[in-house]
Amino acid sequence: MMSTVFSLNGTKVAFDGDPDMPLLWYLRDHAGLTGTKYGCGIAACGACTVHVDGSAARSCVLPMQSLAGKNISTIENLGANGLHAVQRAWIEEDVPQCGYCQAGQLMAAADLLKRVPVPSDSDIATISNLCRCGTYPRIRKAIHRAAAMLREEADA
Ligand code: FES
Ligand code: FES
Repeated sequence: MMSTVFSLNGTKVAFDGDPDMPLLWYLRDHAGLTGTKYGCGIAACGACTVHVDGSAARSCVLPMQSLAGKNISTIENLGANGLHAVQRAWIEEDVPQCGYCQAGQLMAAADLLKRVPVPSDSDIATISNLCRCGTYPRIRKAIHRAAAMLREEADA
């Protein structure tokens, strides 16, 4: 069987198992990266959001065989070089309640700010990640705060 070779949080890895297994299973059960959560398994909730080649993607529906040559980055890597602006803003706005959805929310927010540096409320509403605790108003505030931080850092 051909190995699937890809990069995971900056390290090259090879996978020889079931090519149809979703990335989320690999992350949690093989790589021990349990920050990425299982919510629905059908690409509906966003709890499993990671970055694939820099863009948000739902890992519960990404088969391992689709990852050849890709760069996968998980929540464990988001603050690898110092906390990301979204992480700092999340802390300042005290966003999480139970916390279960929050890794996915942070990954989706980081992706949005890369694409839309000055997001409107409607831009933020395009993030379709679900939160059972209803932290959406704090998420919105935190994304605006993170956007402001990134602008200040860019101007400094
Ligand atoms: S677990 Fe992947 S979108 Fe819900
Ligand atoms: S903080 Fe509880 S599900 Fe979002």
